[in-house]
Amino acid sequence: MEFIKVEAQARPYVALVQLNRPKELNALNLQLMGELRDALKQLDEDEQVRVIIVTGNERAFAAGADIKQMAGKTAIDMLNIDQFSTWDQIKKTKKPLIAAVSGFALGGGCELAMTCDMIIASETAMFGQPEIKIGVMPGAGGTQRLTKALGKAKAMEMVLTGKFLTATDAERQGLVNRVVPVELYLEEAFKLAGEIAQMSPVAAKLAKEAVNRSFEASLEEGLYFERKNFYLCFASEDQKEGMAAFIEKRKPSFSGR
Ligand code: CAA
Repeated sequence: MEFIKVEAQARPYVALVQLNRPKELNALNLQLMGELRDALKQLDEDEQVRVIIVTGNERAFAAGADIKQMAGKTAIDMLNIDQFSTWDQIKKTKKPLIAAVSGFALGGGCELAMTCDMIIASETAMFGQPEIKIGVMPGAGGTQRLTKALGKAKAMEMVLTGKFLTATDAERQGLVNRVVPVELYLEEAFKLAGEIAQMSPVAAKLAKEAVNRSFEASLEEGLYFERKNFYLCFASEDQKEGMAAFIEKRKPSFSGR
């Protein structure tokens, strides 16, 4: 891996993936995205990993797709490269993904953070979809995910002007879970990951899937899907352990089985 660093056991059951092209503000070139896809797939299959944090560095989570790599491309080049199939794979990660964001999260960087399930932001984080300023528009989910998070008017303004959203505003508008001082954002992400890692990994996967289904399905279909996943929890040892532990007034120990 040239452009990302992976620590499968950064904390017990918690993996850390760091985007690592600092000089280019972690611009998401094809190689970096391919490495990220491969790393997430591997971590998703690793039984010792229950939650994955994706982060950048203090200055930049990621400043977007690599403009220099895209600049000379034709529409047919873009079609053939099909960079978004990589994003589709990343979206399929079953384990909870937390984005720990500091500095720039722009264009594809903002979209990558939104592809994660939760976002912990530092006070310096800035979210934006500035593609309009370089003659294009978001292509990795920005028009959809930002609109679902902020509502049409706010998302439209950001997409049409390229203006950034500060961390505080992002928190106020529900895009991020919380904002903490810059020296604490990664620790705060570990704290949240650690909390989730203590839960049943089976239930966490099924619950993540059900929450995400709410974006795709009607209420009726979503409720039906939720119910099926709820029933499926009862096939797990974790359900037996969790409920027995409650009754026996002890802490559960979940195996992920
Ligand atoms: N692609 C390629 N290189 C990038 C980049 C990007 N998205 N963002 C920053 N860089 C590079 C710069 O070219 C510069 O490299 P050099 O030192 O070799 O010149 C280096 O990173 C540092 O950047 P700046 O000197 O520009 O730093 P700054 O502090 O003055 O500005 C910034 C920071 C406001 C983030 C500015 O770099 C910027 O506007 N970047 C582009 C943001 C953008 O438009 N992102 C959307 C990309 S398109 C997209 O993402 C499509 C999609 O939906 C998938």
